[in-house]
Amino acid sequence: MFNKRVKIKELLAQEPQHQEVTVMGWVRTFRNNQFIALNDGSTNNNLQVVAELGRFDEALLRRITSSASLRVTGKIVPSLGKGQKMDLQAETIEILGDSDPDKYPIQLKNRPTLEYLREVAHFRFRTNTFAAVFRVRHALAFAVHKFFNEKGFVYLHTPIITASDAEGAGEMFRVTTLPVDGSAPRNEDNSINFREDFFGRSTNLTVSGQLEGELGATAFGEIYTFGPTFRAENSNTARHLAEFWMIEPEVAFNDLEDNANLAEEFIKYIIRYAMEHNREDLDFLSQRLAEEEKQLPQDKRSEMGLIEKLEFVINNQFERLTYTEAIEILRESNYNKKKKFQFPVTGWGMDLQSEHERYLVEKHFKKPVILMDYPKEIKAFYMRQNDDGKTVAAMDILAPGIGEIVGGSQREERLDKLTERMGEMDIPTEELWWYLDTRRFGTVPHAGFGLGFERMVQFVTGMGNIRDVIPFPRTPKSAEF
Ligand code: 4AD
Ligand code: MG
Repeated sequence: MFNKRVKIKELLAQEPQHQEVTVMGWVRTFRNNQFIALNDGSTNNNLQVVAELGRFDEALLRRITSSASLRVTGKIVPSLGKGQKMDLQAETIEILGDSDPDKYPIQLKNRPTLEYLREVAHFRFRTNTFAAVFRVRHALAFAVHKFFNEKGFVYLHTPIITASDAEGAGEMFRVTTLPVDGSAPRNEDNSINFREDFFGRSTNLTVSGQLEGELGATAFGEIYTFGPTFRAENSNTARHLAEFWMIEPEVAFNDLEDNANLAEEFIKYIIRYAMEHNREDLDFLSQRLAEEEKQLPQDKRSEMGLIEKLEFVINNQFERLTYTEAIEILRESNYNKKKKFQFPVTGWGMDLQSEHERYLVEKHFKKPVILMDYPKEIKAFYMRQNDDGKTVAAMDILAPGIGEIVGGSQREERLDKLTERMGEMDIPTEELWWYLDTRRFGTVPHAGFGLGFERMVQFVTGMGNIRDVIPFPRTPKSAEF
């Protein structure tokens, strides 16, 4: 019975020719005891189901409430009403699941806020905004695999539980089966004895699949990962999650410029894919954003609409410059002189704050920017050291409205340089013996990057808060659902 279901999206693309169909979905609204707006999640457009007056029991009609689930059979006929080309003239209506409209937590009439909808995230997919966002998220995820598959990259599943800190930033969630009540086994110096733990050592959730990705790249030539990563940074911002998804390609026989070219091509490809396959959803989100921006003062509104912005990004080259050049631009900027930055630009060597990144992208260049060659002191141990002795072959891609969307680099392939840097930064070389082995046996120049998937989804959907582009966000003090 269920496989006879026609999806509303497919149906709406057809011409009404009195075809017999079965549809199933959830009631959005029920007007005049006659017109049901039915939605099945395949599109934001509802199918108008007409329950002819007198044809159905009063008792049944009373159960057609918003959010109840229905199975309807009938004929598709040209609509007499405005706003839709077809109606489903109902012959049978079956209630699959009742729903008490007074208790259902989402009252569409009252325009629930995004913040409220986060509290009822188990139902928010049933709203137009979230349905559009998550269909676009799906399209982008699919496009990621399509892009790398077409280029012959191997999809490598890197571990989620690891013993290493790939970024060396110490922002890890511990994984343990030892008791937390104080009775865990101890070493002589009273520290916890992790040799007694499940894996016989201290382990954590991965912050990045890069190090294992490099192992794959030095065999296959080209790999990518696409998996969840975890960071216990206490950042309660609209750009940070404790659990987020990252795409990390790693390519042998590549340098920093090749890496930047790949990242730019990749970003443009997945945006184009979503534009081609999810135009209806993006148009909806674009309109939503435009309405939201009408509430803002003139100078806070974006210069471009969402669609315009995406087209602009696809059709224009990203700006490329060095960290050193960026510092000069920032230092000379009016923002810095008028003390409009919360963190003043003091000079070479400082880490860029997101306000600086956004100034470069949104005010100065007005397009995505690839910043390269950062001071080695503010970057991870694995980045390749440049000949100047001060900088590393790093690259960050900064996007309008988001800030950093990609972080990557050419990797240090020279064993002596790498171990020296690890020593300086207190990264344990014994634990990473397997990583260093790739530099001992057939080392090659190689490079890669990580794209934060949720930040990408934010960029494409125009959603302001990262919590609204992942189905069930994990953030400090919050892990509901
Ligand atoms: O710049 P990051 O830390 O780079 C790495 O992890 C490298 N191992 C990548 C590589 O070279 N293979 O993180 C990469 C990207 C960031 O640019 C950002 O988009 C995203 O991951 N990201 C986060 N997204 C959401 N919430 C967080 N807490 C994030 N931290 C990083
Ligand atoms: Mg980074």
